[in-house]
Amino acid sequence: MAPPMSFFMVLSILAFAPLCFSDNINGGYLYPQFYEHSCPKAQEIIKSVVAKAVEEDARMAASLLRLHFHDCFVQGCDASVLLDSSGTIISEKRSNPNRDSLRGYEVIDEIKSALEKECPHTVSCADIAAVAARDSTVLVGGQGWEVPLGRRDSRGASLSGSNNNIPAPNNTFQTILTKFKRQGLDIVDLVALSGSHTVGNSRCTSFRQRLYNQSGNGQPDFSLDQSYAAQLRTRCPRSGGDQNLFNLDFVTPTKFDNSYFKNLLASKGLLSSDQVLLTKSEASMELVKKYAMNNELFLDQFAKSMVKMGNISPLTGSRGEIRNRCRVVNKY
Ligand code: HEM
Repeated sequence: MAPPMSFFMVLSILAFAPLCFSDNINGGYLYPQFYEHSCPKAQEIIKSVVAKAVEEDARMAASLLRLHFHDCFVQGCDASVLLDSSGTIISEKRSNPNRDSLRGYEVIDEIKSALEKECPHTVSCADIAAVAARDSTVLVGGQGWEVPLGRRDSRGASLSGSNNNIPAPNNTFQTILTKFKRQGLDIVDLVALSGSHTVGNSRCTSFRQRLYNQSGNGQPDFSLDQSYAAQLRTRCPRSGGDQNLFNLDFVTPTKFDNSYFKNLLASKGLLSSDQVLLTKSEASMELVKKYAMNNELFLDQFAKSMVKMGNISPLTGSRGEIRNRCRVVNKY
């Protein structure tokens, strides 16, 4: 029979428990019950505001999902993306990936003000963004997941981080994969998370190059179905119309499903960064085929990869702060 555990053994197991549960680089750990006692209604409040916003504007689900991504890839999931410019802070909202493109800030503000009424100075903006991304996914037909919580908010932003870390639609497959790897995400995460492009919109300016001059020789991107390309050209002219919007998934544009991957197999991915998942790597091609064949498998991996992305370098313990308003750092 195994000997009973000594008091000191129990103590040392408890002391190391945080490290065991931790899967983020900085040792702090997140867990789903973080607000169970301090703000038991937090998740319910977030869900109701998100539901109302998505009811008014179905695209908002996609926008909130993307907002969490653009937060996490820049100094971790710390709500840095939500800060407006002021004092020494230069807002990430001005970066190339975000300018005239990233949305949902007002919804986060509304959630935050409801939470400040319910339990002041308790729920971080970074956690609000993470839960809103999950709720958005579920509202448009995706699978849910438990969101580990306990992130705190940054006291700064990084415009250069936003410009450099977030992949661009004309980046090569290798560049995109490298940018994911730098965040601790792998090729499985890259392909699954790109499946977000099953909902939401892109502006003409983000894929125009593919329609007219993909590699500088005046030719379109031949990995794009040419009749689909002709259709896109009607509303995305050679010049002008930069802000015209197109569904990222033309088959089921507001449903969170695997039709994004089926579109890639038909050479009808809208962005170059979408189509290269099929054409530039054997390993990612296999994943695209798997998810195109099996919606469950995609939804399941998507949920896992979202938890992993949500764990990128959170501020925990006494680092960072709980902002009073998501757009500004607290004054002391
Ligand atoms: C793999 C590299 C990625 C690239 C190059 C990329 C690029 C883009 C671009 C260019 C747009 C359209 C922006 C515009 O024209 O205004 C977009 C939209 C979107 N992206 Fe990505 N993205 C990537 C990965 C992701 C990931 C990981 C997520 C979420 C986890 C995501 C979620 C979304 C969503 C939901 C939209 C639509 C947003 C809306 O309609 O407001 N993307 N992305």
